Amino acid sequence: MRILFLGDIVGRAGRDAVGAALPNLRKTLAADLVIVNAENASHGFGLAPAMADALFAAGADVITLGNHAWDRRELAAYIETHPRLIRPLNFPPGSPGHGSVTVDLADGRRALVLQAMGRLYMELTDDPFRMTAELLGKHRLGVTVQAVFADFHAEATSEKMAYAHSFDGRVSAVVGTHTHLPSADHHIMEGGTAFQSDAGMCGDYDSVIGMEKAAAAARFWRKIPGERLGPAEGEATICGTFVETSDTTGLAVRIEPVRAGGRLSPSMPSP
Ligand SMILES: [Fe+2]
Ligand SMILES: [Fe+2]
Repeated sequence: MRILFLGDIVGRAGRDAVGAALPNLRKTLAADLVIVNAENASHGFGLAPAMADALFAAGADVITLGNHAWDRRELAAYIETHPRLIRPLNFPPGSPGHGSVTVDLADGRRALVLQAMGRLYMELTDDPFRMTAELLGKHRLGVTVQAVFADFHAEATSEKMAYAHSFDGRVSAVVGTHTHLPSADHHIMEGGTAFQSDAGMCGDYDSVIGMEKAAAAARFWRKIPGERLGPAEGEATICGTFVETSDTTGLAVRIEPVRAGGRLSPSMPSP
């Protein structure tokens, strides 16, 4: 299975770039499954329902969220009727929506997509490790599902690596989100799971993690609350990860970074 994942879409710059590029990217990479993280799509904070609709229309099969899931409160109702929009599975019981979804491809193959959120330097949540293990207990990679993709939304690289190693051989890929910077550690681990600690954001990198740089920097200089942070609006770099898996084992056969446009050096997987 050919899986394209795009990291945190930040603000208008990120939305416009993804909206314009995704239909072609999907075609060029012959992607069977496209997953995007959109927790920062609405002016840096949350995801408006209309923007979720636009991302689905542009070719996203599944949208993931993160700590900003409910910054746009309307999304709590929307997620209940849109199962392909998922939030971290370790949000407390009673939270709207679900933390995973199974996607049936047109050719009959099936994929499980899940999101979990880390706890180091993050808001308090339930245990992402135990809750992921519990979910995976209900599926068998290569048997009941041909692929399992995990978006691990976390700040600390140590927690991301620990999470990935914990599920090595039981999922097709663990790709991190939330730091908004693409890491260069993409590789296939010993057990056959593809891993990259962060896919990077789809946003303007002439910024502080996607937000307007002067206002963001001022917050580090002074304790006085400044103006409300808004996203940087220059040309975005689309950042993501391409993973190809074996349909018989469900394990990864390759993982390559995707970077296009904006300020970062380009990288495109070979077809
Ligand atoms: Fe984010
Ligand atoms: Fe986040």
